[in-house]
Amino acid sequence: SEGEILGYLYSKGIKPDGVQTLDKDMVKMVCREYEVEVIEADPVKVEEMAKKKEIFDKEDLAKLQYRPPVITIMGHVDHGKTTLLDYIRKSRVAASEAGGITQGIGAYQVLVPVDGKSQACVFLDTPGHEAFGAMRARGARVTDIAIIVVAADDGIRPQTNEAIAHAKAAGVPIIIAINKIDKDGANPERVMQELSSVGLMPEDWGGDIPMVQISALKGKNIDDLLETIMLVAELQELKANPDRDAKGIVIEAGLDKKKGVMATFIVQNGTLRKGDVVVCGEAFGKVRALFDDSGKQVNDAGPSIPVQVIGLSGVPLAGDEFEVVGSIDIAREKAELRAELLRNERISAKAGDGKITLSSLA
Ligand code: GTP
Ligand code: MG
Repeated sequence: SEGEILGYLYSKGIKPDGVQTLDKDMVKMVCREYEVEVIEADPVKVEEMAKKKEIFDKEDLAKLQYRPPVITIMGHVDHGKTTLLDYIRKSRVAASEAGGITQGIGAYQVLVPVDGKSQACVFLDTPGHEAFGAMRARGARVTDIAIIVVAADDGIRPQTNEAIAHAKAAGVPIIIAINKIDKDGANPERVMQELSSVGLMPEDWGGDIPMVQISALKGKNIDDLLETIMLVAELQELKANPDRDAKGIVIEAGLDKKKGVMATFIVQNGTLRKGDVVVCGEAFGKVRALFDDSGKQVNDAGPSIPVQVIGLSGVPLAGDEFEVVGSIDIAREKAELRAELLRNERISAKAGDGKITLSSLA
């Protein structure tokens, strides 16, 4: 604690007053006392790291355009997440893709009619709580809106609370889908009461959390849910600059026997193109092919759009950042730099407070 450290400094004859900077040697001394390993950062590398976290630069600000929202569905086991996703997919996939829905990629785009026009939104299929937690722990923020599914015949359960905690910690708006209202014993009112008692006050009761009563199985009120999503998205003013080299986040990756390393990216800014050179976590490579959510080859992918990428040197991790760079040599160098930074982060994480959190287990 702060008090302990102050006490230690006093005991060494250092009398810190108010806000004070400790010099390098003092930091090392304190760290030795608490058995924390110190790694001296190279200022250039630190700046690199800081830049990585910055999504927009000056050039972007003049060119920002609307981008589709990225939505994660969470909730307790068997409360109907997959059924909801399936229903949304089947009824809302673009007509040209109907029938051709494939399972390849854990993220997909759905078109929702808003004011007579079709607007895209992107649903993430894979992030269960662990993946969400792991990505968040690694600083990746891809989700714009969290939908938490609660079964009306079951109410708040442990994983519901977990989902709420994740969404709150990530600072993303929450929409509650009260599901299974077609079932005997469904009691949406009780669910709303339970939710208010954990601080999620329904809009209908004067609070700020939209709650939509649905039946994922029967397809009831799914339109209302989609409309609510688009309203919440609108308030967020989601924007990106499609007119630049892409950067974004890996949402899943693995090894395919035939195709080699396959990774699913979500572009956060810019446009990713076939032939681009990317660095991605500790991996790098030239994008040999891009596939959209229906498994079709595409030439590019703009902001919020999930694509599967082949051509990487290794398997990145969910939550790794990717960015397009000028040449394969730069990519290799950056990948090595990242590997080193990650090693250091891991060492300092180990030497940290030692607490085991949900995210560190994920
Ligand atoms: P996990 O992936 O295991 O966490 O479960 P899930 O949340 O994805 O639930 P899933 O969609 O697999 O649904 C669980 C069961 O509930 C299935 O038997 C569904 O058919 C059923 N179910 C889902 N939604 C509804 C609904 O609106 N009404 C009724 N009656 N049953 C539903
Ligand atoms: Mg499921």
